[in-house]
Amino acid sequence: MAVMREILGSERLVLREITVADLPALGRIFGDPLCMRYYPSVKDAAATRDFFDRLAFESYAKNGFGLWAVIDRESGDLLGDCGITLQETSRGMEPELGYHLWRDHWGKGYATEAALACRDHAFSVIGLSRLVSIVSPENLPSQKVAGRVHQRREAFSKRNAAGATVERYLYISEKT
Ligand SMILES: CC(C)(COP(=O)(O)OP(=O)(O)OC[C@H]1O[C@@H](n2cnc3c(N)ncnc32)[C@H](O)[C@@H]1OP(=O)(O)O)[C@@H](O)C(=O)NCCC(=O)NCCS
Repeated sequence: MAVMREILGSERLVLREITVADLPALGRIFGDPLCMRYYPSVKDAAATRDFFDRLAFESYAKNGFGLWAVIDRESGDLLGDCGITLQETSRGMEPELGYHLWRDHWGKGYATEAALACRDHAFSVIGLSRLVSIVSPENLPSQKVAGRVHQRREAFSKRNAAGATVERYLYISEKT
């Protein structure tokens, strides 16, 4: 069995590195139209694998951080992912905090709990000085989470994969 590397813990959750064995469960989130409502499209198994290759496995090796598995401490169930990846913002590539949970686990505070723990870990363990979240103006659930985790919000425009300009909110935390 693969060794599971634990990154951090909070009251109800453990965040550990994702392994290949987690991809079917994570793929259920990225293949679901409701979970992906604010994304351009759902991802099939190959696109999910590519996403986690870049934002988990390669990012762990290159940056020492990435998207991590969010595990319910009590049941051991995988609830989704939360973590830090490099994303393009108005300042170039910078560490961004993101989260995706399977929909049965919404409305219980898990995303906020995981994101707060990641933010604290980013400043106190990884040594980052600034952490952001990029959120679509339509994604109100994510805005609520980001509003609880970050200090302030700016608006910015970015080019999406299709080359179109899209508006995004940039939620910002700086180490105090
Ligand atoms: C974004 C996403 C993770 C937010 O999930 P969520 O369940 O709304 O957020 P949380 O887990 O923090 O739960 C917060 C809610 O749980 C409620 N809650 C219930 N029990 C709670 C508890 N014990 N502790 C804290 N909050 C609790 C809160 O009141 C809060 O409700 P509110 O947001 O209406 O005020 C979820 O919608 C998702 O996975 N979406 C798909 C992927 C996505 O869009 N990701 C973001 C990309 S930018």
